[in-house]
Amino acid sequence: MIGLKGNKFTKDEVYSAMKEGKLLTLHIFLENVCNFKCPFCLTQTRTFTNELNTEETKQIIRDGKQLGVKTVLIAGAGEPLMAKNFWEIVSFIKEQNLNVIVFSNLSLITHQIAEKLYKNEVAIIGKLNSFKKETQEKYIGNLKGAYEKMQMGLKNLIDIGYTRLNNNHETMLALETSILHDNVHELYDFWVYCRNHNMFPIVDTIYYQGKATESAYEDYLVDYPVVRDAVKRINEFDRENGYTWGLKILNRKGKGVIIGELGLDCIKIGTNLNVDVEGRVYDCFNMSGEGYGNIRENSLVDIWRKSKPYCDGIALHGLCKCRNYVDREEIRKELACLI
Ligand SMILES: C[S@@+](CC[C@H](N)C(=O)[O-])C[C@H]1O[C@@H](n2cnc3c(N)ncnc32)[C@H](O)[C@@H]1O
Ligand code: SF4
Repeated sequence: MIGLKGNKFTKDEVYSAMKEGKLLTLHIFLENVCNFKCPFCLTQTRTFTNELNTEETKQIIRDGKQLGVKTVLIAGAGEPLMAKNFWEIVSFIKEQNLNVIVFSNLSLITHQIAEKLYKNEVAIIGKLNSFKKETQEKYIGNLKGAYEKMQMGLKNLIDIGYTRLNNNHETMLALETSILHDNVHELYDFWVYCRNHNMFPIVDTIYYQGKATESAYEDYLVDYPVVRDAVKRINEFDRENGYTWGLKILNRKGKGVIIGELGLDCIKIGTNLNVDVEGRVYDCFNMSGEGYGNIRENSLVDIWRKSKPYCDGIALHGLCKCRNYVDREEIRKELACLI
């Protein structure tokens, strides 16, 4: 099965990293600016007054490299392509000989930008919550013309070669969708579309973060049997194509919640750090509370060595701790994002 360049690690690589106390991935966040208004956005909730500057961001990357990081993922805090220092940071990551993956809403990817991204070997995780214009636009704030811009961005990436596989059977393009009432019946089509077009599919539950905390979280979650049936169909499709994986869906008070990544083990705790736009350090997108500390008080290297998240990671069985638990209460601590 194909992987996304920079995001494909074998179990041996993951276990070795955990044993040796090394990181594999680092998620960073640039300026909190965005042209969309997604109702559940985990970052676009407030104006951050004390954002990291370019030098601080570069230092995080240097420290990450020292700790073994192979891939830096630019995950926000808004639309990364709108950040003033985006290209400078991409160049810096490349100078460090690290892989770079950028989350993007795709709407700003013109032919020229696609070409520049491709030349810089920037892998993309593009947002696609629906093939239907009306549904897609509902989840980006009903902005007129945005759907067409996203489609154009996707086309530009494909035209420039983003879905051509390399020798390691990796693509440069992933599509990411959140499970919503309006798109749950499209999930199978989304998955098959990605598989058939050499795009890496990412399907996830909405986390209880940012704007998603401003209304009843249950409103975003879909009934357990509906999620389970959609995931089962996807699982069967992959099995028929020679790729087997276990179902990891929690029944949370009648609602279906995906644990980890669909079709993959979650390897974040123990091999990944997220550093938010103001320097706070966390394991993953569960970015509530104080986390492990702030890089303005201690370096990332010191925070990692002192907090030792890899010791938790090594205790995980099957790489994702959550999958072995049936009782919601038992995983509450690890998944505050899915309260
Ligand atoms: C914060 S966005 C930043 C990058 C870019 N603006 C985008 O939307 O792709 C990074 C990823 O997080 C996803 N996301 C945003 N809010 C979320 C939430 N509450 N739960 C789960 N995923 C979320 C987005 O769909 C996107 O794939
Ligand atoms: S999810 Fe991405 S595109 Fe949507 S508002 Fe947040 S940062 Fe912007």
